[in-house]
Amino acid sequence: MSNTLILSIETSCDETAIAILRSSKKGLEILTNQVSSQVKLHAKWGGVVPNLAAREHLKNFPKLLKMALEEAQITPSQLDAISVTSGPGLIPALLVGVNYAKTLSYLWEKPLIGIHHIEGHIYANFIETQELGVRNEDLANKKQKPNSYNLIPRTYIEFPILALVVSGGHTQLVLMKDHLQYEIIGQTVDDAVGEAFDKVARILGIGYPGGPKVAQQAANFQFPISNFQTKSNNSTSKQNYEFDEAKKLMPKKLIFPRPMLHKKNFNFSFSGLKTAVLYETKKLQEKLPVTSYELLIPEICHEFQQACIDVLVSKTIKAAEIYKPKTILLAGGVSANTELREQLGKAISKSLPTTTYHLPPINLTGDNAAMIAAAAAFRWEKMTEAQKKKALDGWKTIQPNANLKMK
Ligand code: KG4
Ligand code: ZN
Repeated sequence: MSNTLILSIETSCDETAIAILRSSKKGLEILTNQVSSQVKLHAKWGGVVPNLAAREHLKNFPKLLKMALEEAQITPSQLDAISVTSGPGLIPALLVGVNYAKTLSYLWEKPLIGIHHIEGHIYANFIETQELGVRNEDLANKKQKPNSYNLIPRTYIEFPILALVVSGGHTQLVLMKDHLQYEIIGQTVDDAVGEAFDKVARILGIGYPGGPKVAQQAANFQFPISNFQTKSNNSTSKQNYEFDEAKKLMPKKLIFPRPMLHKKNFNFSFSGLKTAVLYETKKLQEKLPVTSYELLIPEICHEFQQACIDVLVSKTIKAAEIYKPKTILLAGGVSANTELREQLGKAISKSLPTTTYHLPPINLTGDNAAMIAAAAAFRWEKMTEAQKKKALDGWKTIQPNANLKMK
């Protein structure tokens, strides 16, 4: 790759993000990655309020831009291009980000490139960091300890790629025969998996944002004793008694459905699973005192999470058996889920030992601007001189699109 400096902006949801990335023969290197999260602001509403998010983005920009330029030790004149998430996302939030990027493009006379948010999540896998994917051939040959991630330069990620995209707004299996070529071979027909995690957390009243809270509770289920002991200073035996009473009202083993698991296509559905959690929770809440009901939350979260993972892993493996990718990638906010990362890795090494498995670095799983710059770096590399010149007018033409399609 030629030496390129790209500044990028991402505001599709509740994270205000600005990054500067250097692309060179060595790969993609982050010079600065500023992310200002609005979690606290939206927590009291139990979800993202689009107009509040937009107002915050606007407030955050000047400070974030100053910090980004200072940390990267870059002056605007050194930049080759600016990139911005143009969709999909919340339209008030996108509007603010796109207009800010347009202003910078006009002022600094730099080309402007619009990037699809999910394309960005996929390209987070191509950024060089210390923590990379597992090469399953090595795992199979026992050259590599399981669970220790091998340092494969991301520039060597081989096509075709099958990307499992799991975020708050998307659940998709995307086949890429080459850079920037996307074929969606399956997707959710209702809720995205991250959305289901968030809704389950709301049903259970365990906080916001839901994904990490559900994952945390699910992990507690695997270590129930320590959970009870740390839960309060009250007598553990009383809690054990309450737990036993609560357990009597639950099926011996709680089992939620695995929607679409046996369907021949690669689509997903998570809305029925969420409803199953709702009904089970209502039943338990009606029958049990609050303190006893709360003791069952880890098991509910564990089974819900496992149901999601079973479907995601099984469909990914089945799709890979048909499309025969050389690489499988995880992308999107839910790819921070440790169980998903590990269980998909294990399934790939068992069923597809010659396929390489790549994970986005954990700090780049959520929304950030570095991933947007990464996708832009590949777009920039492919652009002709005439196209690059035309991008100087991007500030006149690029529009935010809440339902932008990936192409
Ligand atoms: O990609 P992302 O940051 O934003 C969208 O593009 O939607 O994804 C956010 C989603 C949220 O639904 C959040 O609950 C979920 O990712 N998430 C997780 C975890 N961390 C974030 N879901 C499950 N386990 C996690 N550890
Ligand atoms: Zn996202």
